[in-house]
Amino acid sequence: MPKKLLLKHLEVPGIQSLDVYRQQGGYENLKKALSMVPDAITEEVKKSGLRGRGGAGFPTGMKWSFLAKPPGVPRYLVCNADESEPGTFKDRYLMQRIPHLLLEGMIISSFALGANTSYIYIRGELMYVYHILQKAIDECYAAGLLGKNIMGSDYSLHLHVHCGAGAYICGEETALIESLEGKRGNPRIKPPFPAVKGLWGCPTVVNNVETIAAVVPIIEMGGDAYAAIGVGKSTGTKLISASGHINKPGVYEIELGVPVEEFIYSDEYCGGVRNGNKLKAVVAGGSSVPILPGDLILKTTKGEPRLMTYESLADGGFQSGTMLGSGGFIVMDETASIVKNLWNFTRFYHHESCGQCSPCREGTGWMEKILHKILDGHGEMKDIDLLWDIQSKIEGKTICPLGDAAAWPVASAIRHFRYEFEELIKSGGKVNRPAYATHAG
Ligand SMILES: Cc1cc2nc3c(=O)[nH]c(=O)nc-3n(C[C@H](O)[C@H](O)[C@H](O)COP(=O)(O)O)c2cc1C
Repeated sequence: MPKKLLLKHLEVPGIQSLDVYRQQGGYENLKKALSMVPDAITEEVKKSGLRGRGGAGFPTGMKWSFLAKPPGVPRYLVCNADESEPGTFKDRYLMQRIPHLLLEGMIISSFALGANTSYIYIRGELMYVYHILQKAIDECYAAGLLGKNIMGSDYSLHLHVHCGAGAYICGEETALIESLEGKRGNPRIKPPFPAVKGLWGCPTVVNNVETIAAVVPIIEMGGDAYAAIGVGKSTGTKLISASGHINKPGVYEIELGVPVEEFIYSDEYCGGVRNGNKLKAVVAGGSSVPILPGDLILKTTKGEPRLMTYESLADGGFQSGTMLGSGGFIVMDETASIVKNLWNFTRFYHHESCGQCSPCREGTGWMEKILHKILDGHGEMKDIDLLWDIQSKIEGKTICPLGDAAAWPVASAIRHFRYEFEELIKSGGKVNRPAYATHAG
């Protein structure tokens, strides 16, 4: 049985409540952490090799150690619960099912960072989860787990949940900070990084929900034991949101290093492609990462089985690799239209661009229009090169990575599935389309 660190109490009836969570050993790790020196907690997180689960995979312990500590200036921990990346729904699941795991992680992490006020910034559409979290926070205040002198220690913490208004850009950490300050969620130019000048101009750490929850088992088992799970620099477990044409969509906790083939086909996880259909493509880490054809997602450039790790998924660079990203694993079978899916993603990025940077604001709209034109049966061969040109003028040329996130799916779809664009153009939008796959009837 694969090890479960985050979802191990998932099936315990009533685990959302503080009483049941405590019966399962909940908040014992907070007690342990409060008996440690704060820097020793950061040391354990460093040793664990934990990497940010929000998408970029930046080492968490290193990020914590960058936090500036000028005397007399408050520091903040902000939990990024904005989760709006198409294909990614694991944070919502974790918060909804085991809210106290996140809260315990928040209190331990805030203690380690020396923060006395912390925030959970949650996506506006997740109002029902907001209520679950608020209820759990109220329980913690009543039990002396939040507020003044937590568990009788001299540590005090106030924790607030703040609802966004449903903008994907507010998941970008500096846009999130702007939004939390009550402003329009536009990403900031960096440097300065949040670790130096974040919320209210003070040093701030922004971490993903799953990252913060993972601090609890790290304290429980110790950094070295956590690092022993996984492969190489991909340590510990990871929540994967699996969706698309598979038999068993859902959220799975995997030990990093599971072969992709096993993840797709074994009954432990996705249970295979629906109807026994052929695997056509996979978007492995949420809509922002390059899409790969079935054969490339299963094998590395050396012909070895590709693993669910940061490194193995990236093998081959942008020519033949992809990214683990936020773990939004979307499987497409042979009936899927790559161009239609790409249009859908691009429409999303156009809608969600904050509009600060011209390449992203204008380019995402142009790409959406061209893809629409191809699907509508009016495409011309030169449109493929035009799409390529536009995406290349967005990538790396914007303040925040939303531009890259919009460009990479387009580049990878053209790189690996150019024939599908050509067939659509030649046939006036009529081939390569199941009933739902194009606009042209
Ligand atoms: C457009 C955009 C949206 C993002 N959305 C999220 C999100 O919903 N949740 C998240 O944790 N990180 C998101 N990120 C990444 C954050 O900027 C940041 O890297 C992350 O919260 C850091 O936490 P981690 O180190 O624990 O992964 C997004 C980034 C971009 C560019």
